Amino acid sequence: MFYIVQAMPYKRHILVTGGAGFIGSHVVRLFTNKYDDYQIINLDKLTYAGNLANLKDIENKPNYTFVKADICDFETICRLMEEFQVDGIIHLAAESHVDRSIKDPFTFARTNVMGTLSLLQAAKLYWESKKEGYEGKRFYHISTDEVYGALELTHPEGVKSAHSTHPVYGDDFFHESTKYAPHSPYSASKASSDHFVRAFHDTYGMPTLVTNCSNNYGPYQFPEKLIPLFINNIRHRKPLPVYGKGENVRDWLYVEDHARAIDLIFHQGRIADTYNIGGFNEWKNIDLIKVIIKTVDRLLGHPEGYSSDLITYVTDRKGHDMRYAIDSSKLHEELGWEPSLQFEEGIEKTVRWYLDNQEWMDNVTSGDYQKYYEEMYLGR
Ligand code: NAD
Ligand code: TYD
Repeated sequence: MFYIVQAMPYKRHILVTGGAGFIGSHVVRLFTNKYDDYQIINLDKLTYAGNLANLKDIENKPNYTFVKADICDFETICRLMEEFQVDGIIHLAAESHVDRSIKDPFTFARTNVMGTLSLLQAAKLYWESKKEGYEGKRFYHISTDEVYGALELTHPEGVKSAHSTHPVYGDDFFHESTKYAPHSPYSASKASSDHFVRAFHDTYGMPTLVTNCSNNYGPYQFPEKLIPLFINNIRHRKPLPVYGKGENVRDWLYVEDHARAIDLIFHQGRIADTYNIGGFNEWKNIDLIKVIIKTVDRLLGHPEGYSSDLITYVTDRKGHDMRYAIDSSKLHEELGWEPSLQFEEGIEKTVRWYLDNQEWMDNVTSGDYQKYYEEMYLGR
């Protein structure tokens, strides 16, 4: 006897770009595990920052598919839209490191601006070709708080905050209405892509959403960014290059909290709207670095202060933005989102993860990483 097994039709077909990167891998994992009835298509070029090992635990799930492609390859994106009947896009693919953008701005304009435009245009052509048009569709663009420029450090010693147990370092925050004022080639390219996304809503009626998030931290972040770089360097007793005086302030959010916000906004966010995502968790770089050193030393069984001698003040980053601080109250008030982790818990979890996953770290730091590291940090 023969049985015809009919595949369950998926309720949604969601294309996640940049799903092999840091934040993208958390978004893909969350959606694939949470929504059995969604097909999740992870499209990634696998640049130095993309790594399929970030998704080992879900790679065999039936509702997950990986496609290696470049978002700038318009013809391929058009073909994939049809092939997978994509009805939702969560766009994370980007060049994401400020220091690299200072050295090579063209790559940032290509991927972040032209790549986003290519995705928008492919989505437009496909969705407009359907009889239901834009009905039930979503183009969700993931952006950064860096598009707003830099805030002043009006309280260098920090003052009490109504929102968090941790001090704040200035009077202003980035709001959804803050004027764009990007300074680095990275933030300029992200600002430009945000404008294109909004233009596709205003011109063609595409159902778009944009969110601007603060600095993320957590597992699977490529070790060119502050937190994983420093954890790895402490482990190997390498210098910790602190830019300038280490007084710049960043607002840190645990990556899984960002992924949860993305899930909520994708499903419930108001079309054509913008939401800021952040943890009200400002840290001066040097204070954060001291917490990392203390945590790594403790977990490795070293005496307190053992790795403090690794702190090395180096030439400041060109155009280094002084302070980022996000006001995410709109997201809290409208959709009820708030961070689930206190920073102390998040950083402990993160340090443990990197120390327990040395094989992952060794994999991503093999090959060209050494050359890059030497040029970037030792040749400054
Ligand atoms: P990441 O650098 O870790 O990952 C980027 C991913 O995009 C990689 O997998 C890479 O292979 C892929 N990619 C790059 N160019 C591509 C191309 N041309 N075609 C297809 N794939 C390509 O970045 P991340 O930190 O995970 O950031 C993801 C998104 O979130 C970015 O858009 C970034 O601007 C935004 N963001 C990041 C932060 C943060 O703190 N990391 C904060 C706010 C917003
Ligand atoms: P980074 O993780 O690159 O994120 P972003 O530049 O997008 O905020 O850097 C976080 C902060 O740490 C930023 O102020 C620059 C600083 N920094 C250092 O002092 N040394 C380093 O080696 C790196 C990578 C960053």
